[in-house]
Formats: sequence, C-alpha cells, structure tokens
Amino acid sequence: MPQHITYTNQVGAALDRVLASTCCLRLFVLTDENTHQLVLPHIDSKALHQATEIIIHAGDEHKTLDALAQVWHALSDDGATRQSVLVNIGGGMVCDLGGFAAATFKRGIRFINIPTTLLSAVDAAVGGKTGINFNGLKNEVGAFAEADEVIISTCFFKSLPPKELRSGYAEVIKHAMLDGHETFGQIIEQAPQQLTLQQLEASVQVKQRIVAQDPHEQGLRRTLNLGHTVGHALESWAFQRSGLAGTSFQGSGIRASMPHGYAVAWGLVAEAVLSHMLLQFPSDDLHRLGTYVRDHYGTPGITCDDYPTLLELMRHDKKSRQGEINCTLLRHIGDPVIDNPITDDDIKTALDILRDYVD
Ligand code: GLY
Repeated sequence: MPQHITYTNQVGAALDRVLASTCCLRLFVLTDENTHQLVLPHIDSKALHQATEIIIHAGDEHKTLDALAQVWHALSDDGATRQSVLVNIGGGMVCDLGGFAAATFKRGIRFINIPTTLLSAVDAAVGGKTGINFNGLKNEVGAFAEADEVIISTCFFKSLPPKELRSGYAEVIKHAMLDGHETFGQIIEQAPQQLTLQQLEASVQVKQRIVAQDPHEQGLRRTLNLGHTVGHALESWAFQRSGLAGTSFQGSGIRASMPHGYAVAWGLVAEAVLSHMLLQFPSDDLHRLGTYVRDHYGTPGITCDDYPTLLELMRHDKKSRQGEINCTLLRHIGDPVIDNPITDDDIKTALDILRDYVD
C-alpha cells in the first residue's frame, strides 16, 4: 500500500489531526539548528507545544553515529515508550537520521516526516530508506522503515536558496524520465522555481508507485537509481577534491561539497548518453536533457584526468557488483532497464559527451 501523504500549507493543523487519531503518549520533535530557528516557530500546532524538542547540528556531515546517539539519549532520558511518536522536521539529513532513530529505538516507534526542502519532499521523506553515514561511507548503516505519515508543504520552499531548489528539482527530472513523455516534456520546459504543487505531488507519486511494488529494492526500485551511479561518483570526487577526504569530519569522514541534486543532474545526462549508446535512447530526448542541465546546473568541472578516480568510485558504489560498474538506463522516457553492466570505455565516452554538453 502506498505511504500516506498529506499535501497542505496548514502543516500544524494537519499534524494535530494525524496525532489526534494516533494513540500517542509522548511526542518528540527532531529539528536541526536551521529548522529549529526558521521552521518550527511557524508551525501552528497544539501538539507540538507539548513536545520535547531534540535539536541536532545541520548538514550531511552530521548524519553520524554521534548525532544518532544524541537522539536515542534524548528519547531515553525523557521517557519515550513504544507509544511515543517522533516528528522529523527538516531536510534529508533529519528525515534519514530521525527515521533511523525511530526505527531502532525500543525496536521501533512511530514517526512522522515533515520535509522542509524540495529534495527531501521528493526523495528522503518518502519510501522508507533511513540511515546514517558511517566509516566514511554515505548511508552505510540504516533500515527500511516507512514514516507513518508524511506532511508535505511548499511553504517551506519559498525561503530556499535557488541552488537548493535546483538540487531538489534534479530528482523531479529523474521521476519525470521514469514516468513518461508528457511529464518529462512539462518538467524540462520550465525553470525549477515554476514547479507547481500538482507537479510536486505527481513526482512524489512516481516514487510511491515504485516503492509500493518493491519496498526493499529487490528489483524495480533500482530504477530510482537512474543518474546515481555517475552522480554518486561525482559527489564523492568533489568531496575528495575538497581536501577533507580521509579526515574524520565530525566522525563520518563525509562532507557534502557538491549538492546531491547537481551531481544527479549531471549523472542523468551521462546515463542518458549511455542509454543512447547501449539501448538506442532517442537522441532528441538526450539533447533536451543535456541542454536543460547545462542551462540550469552548469558544469561539474571535471577533466579527463579525473576519469580514473571517477571509475574507481563507480566500481566501489553500492550498486556495482564484483567491481563491475552497473547502471539503470532507459530505452525510452518511461521505459527503464535495471542492472546494465557498463565498460570503462563506455563510461569515458559518456563523460566526454557530458562535458561537451555542459562545459
Ligand atoms: N532514493 C532512491 C530510493 O529511495 O530508492
């Protein structure tokens, strides 16, 4: 069954309604230092006034075991029981970490996600992937656990910097590519800030439909990895280049120096090139995507000297098998094919063509 999602700009009222129908003995709310200051005061909820607030540091570099332990401690010290509910208010980091804290505390308490970024609304808050970064690896430890309710409001997005909005929009483009020509045509012909609530809802539904059929990623859900083999390698490459790799930064060794969605946008182009080369994905759709990504996301700034590092990162990606690089590709818009083994030479060609589009 698809996860229950409420779309509303009356977030406080929606939360009170959900909690009124839940047997919740104690309410906890997880924020980071940004959402504590900028979002929580604007949620007009009676229930939240009674809640115990847990505030963690903001940023993916804090999606760590230390922060997780902080949440467990707060729940334990303030008497959380199996009947308690945790409300996660924030971006992907808060939803991922808070979801994992809830999934594991007393073997699982209920939780509600209120995503405050476009990226978390279309991705992290929905679908039940929770977790933390560990041992220098993103999302290395986690669990599948769906939020009991997700409350999505566009009112939080208005104050997002354009870069953050563009980052989330890359996942909207990915969902459109998985969905079909009509959606792709609409999404690719407007600027990220023109996204309507209806389009946002449709985008989330693409993910919901896939997750409902394959919640634990045995097959179909891997289609959601479109753009992410190359995308994750670019993200890790940017992190290494930032000079912080190998240092234990706040205990995780991970620092996000390239916005996730930007890496996904470039990854989508590279993987559309591979789709064209290997599955005859139409060149006009590739061209539309490449042009859009050039105009809205610019360039990742890679050169061919970076290819060996990028290939090595792709080989170590969770999605690769026994060192063989593996991608989800498309035959057509709306027609994905999972588990395509890719050669190094094909990746290099795809990166060359990506650079031809965006450099
Ligand atoms: N972010 C991809 C997934 O949830 O499967």
